[in-house]
Amino acid sequence: MDYKKIITEDLSAQLSEHLSLEDIYQLLENPKNDDHGDLAFPTFRLAKAFRKNPAEIANDIAENFSSDVVEKVNVVGPYLNFYLNKNIVSTQVLNDIISSPSTYGNSNVGEGKNIPIDMSSPNIAKPMSMGHLRSTVIGNALSNIVSKLGFEPVRINHLGDWGTQFGRLITAYKLWGEEEKVRANPIKELNELYIHFHEVLETQPELEDVGREWFKKLEDGDQEATELWRWFRDESLNEFNKVYDRLGVTFDSHNGESFYNDKMEEIVDLLEEKELLVEDQGAQVVRLDEFDLQPALIKKQDGATLYITRDLAAALFRKRNYEFEQSLYVVGQDQIYHFTQLKAVLNKMGYEWEEDIHHISFGLISIDGEKMSTRRGKVVLLEEVLDEAVLRASNQINEKNPSLANKEEVAEQVGVGAVVFHDLQHDRRNNFNFNLDEIVQFEGETGPYVQYTRARALSILKKAEIDPSYFDGEKEYSLTDSYSWSVVKLIQSFSSVLDRAYREFEPSIIAKHALSMAQAFNRFYANVRVLDEGPEKESRLALVYAVALMLEEDLRLLGVEAPDEM
Ligand code: ARG
Repeated sequence: MDYKKIITEDLSAQLSEHLSLEDIYQLLENPKNDDHGDLAFPTFRLAKAFRKNPAEIANDIAENFSSDVVEKVNVVGPYLNFYLNKNIVSTQVLNDIISSPSTYGNSNVGEGKNIPIDMSSPNIAKPMSMGHLRSTVIGNALSNIVSKLGFEPVRINHLGDWGTQFGRLITAYKLWGEEEKVRANPIKELNELYIHFHEVLETQPELEDVGREWFKKLEDGDQEATELWRWFRDESLNEFNKVYDRLGVTFDSHNGESFYNDKMEEIVDLLEEKELLVEDQGAQVVRLDEFDLQPALIKKQDGATLYITRDLAAALFRKRNYEFEQSLYVVGQDQIYHFTQLKAVLNKMGYEWEEDIHHISFGLISIDGEKMSTRRGKVVLLEEVLDEAVLRASNQINEKNPSLANKEEVAEQVGVGAVVFHDLQHDRRNNFNFNLDEIVQFEGETGPYVQYTRARALSILKKAEIDPSYFDGEKEYSLTDSYSWSVVKLIQSFSSVLDRAYREFEPSIIAKHALSMAQAFNRFYANVRVLDEGPEKESRLALVYAVALMLEEDLRLLGVEAPDEM
C-alpha cells in the first residue's frame, strides 16, 4: 500500500478540476520535521484557480477532506499537514510484506518490455579490473531492480574478445609462449606475454606489422589464428567465471566483440548508403562536427575495424533482437566520449531509438589510496581483493561469534557482500577509495552492518520463541511509538524507493534504504522494550520480522547474500 497514492486520490476528489493525480502526487512532500505530520500538501499552485489566498484554500480543503488512512489534518499557513492513522497503516504495511516478501513492492510497469544491460564486459587474456567488478555489480543490481518492475532484463557480457591486440597476443605466444604455463595460469601468463610484446616492440618496431597480419588472419577466419584465439577466450572465461560464481552473477548472453565480426560489413554498407563515410588519410570516418565531436574512426587504413564499429553493430543487433525499451551500458566514465560518439553516429544514421541508449557511467575505484591499474606493474587481482575481504570477515566472526556453525560459508557471504555493498552504496558517479578493514566492519555504514542487523532481528524472534510462520499476513497490529513508526514508514516507502532507483539507474538508492532501515531498526530496538509483555508485543515482533524480510529483499536486489546468523 502506498499511502501517498491514497491521499492523492482523496485530495483529487476536491481538486481534480485543477490538478491531475500526477500533479497532486508530485506536490505531496515528506515534512522534514516529524511534528509536521507524515505528508504535507502546499496550496500555492491553486491560488490562481481558486482566486483565494493559499492559507484560505488550505482551510477549505481541510474542512471537506476525509480519508480512511488519515487521523488528523492540520493547517499551517498554506500547508495541509496529514497525520496518518498509525494502526491502520502499520497493519497494512506489515501484512503486505509478511504475506508476500519476495513480491513486496513489485509492479508491472515494465511488462513485456526488454532492457538489455551491457555489463561486466572484461577483456580476455587480461585480469578483470576493479572497474569490471563495478560494472558487474551495478549491472546485476540494475537487472534485479528492473525485473522487479516487470521488465525483462537481458544481461549481456560484451566480452572484449576482438581487436588488433589479439594479433599481438598471438604473435607473442608464437614467439615466447609455452602451452603448459598458459594452461596452468592462463590470465597471468597471457597478460605477461602481452606486456612483454610491448617491451620488445621498443627495439623491434617491425613486430607491430606481424601483429597486424595475425589479426587480419583472425578476421579472415584462418584456422591457426582462430584456434589460438578460441583457446585464449575459453581459458579467460573459465577464470572470469570463478569471480562471477562468487558474486552470484549470471549472464543471458556472452556475445562479445567477436560476435560482431560478420555484422560489421552491414554497418559499413549502411554508413556508405547514407553517405556518412568520408575518407581521412586513408581511413574511413564519420564526421561529427555538428555535435562538436571528433570524427568516429570506423575503418583503419588497412581495413581493420574498431571498437566503435563493433559497438555500432551491437547497438543495431540489440535493437532488432530485443526490440528494447531502453538499452543500458554499464561502463566506466572514461568511456563517456566513446558512448557520446556512438549515439551521435546512430543519430546521424537516422535511428531515433538512439535516445533510448543510456551509458550508465561510474567513477573510479581505488583501494587504500592507490588507483588500481592492470596496465603496468602492480596488478591487483580481483580474486585477491575478495579473498582479503573474506579473511577479514572471518576474523570478525571469530571475535564476535566463535561458535558459529558454518563459519566459512558465512565469512564468504560477509566478505564478498561487504565489497559488493560498498561498491553500490555511493552515487555510482563518485570516485571512491576503499579500505578493506573499514568496509568489513559490523558497525557503521557497511554491508555487514545490514546483514548483521537482519541476523539480529531473526535472533530476537528466536529469543521470543516465536516462529515466523505465526505471522500469517492477516493480523491486526497496533504500534503507537515513534520508533516503530519510523520503521513502518521506511518499509512503506519501498515502492517509491524502487521507482527512483530505476529512474536514476542508481542502485545506491536501494543501499541507502537498507542502511536507513537498519539504523531505524536499531534505534527502535535500543529504545523500545520489544520483549516486554503487553498488548503491543505481538505487533512489535511482527515489525521485527518485517524488518528481516525487508532487509533481505534490499540485499537480494543488490546481489548481497543474507546469512541468518553471523
Ligand atoms: N571491454 C571494454 C573494457 O574493458 C568494455 C566494454 C563495454 N561495452 C561496450 N559495449 N562497449 O573497457
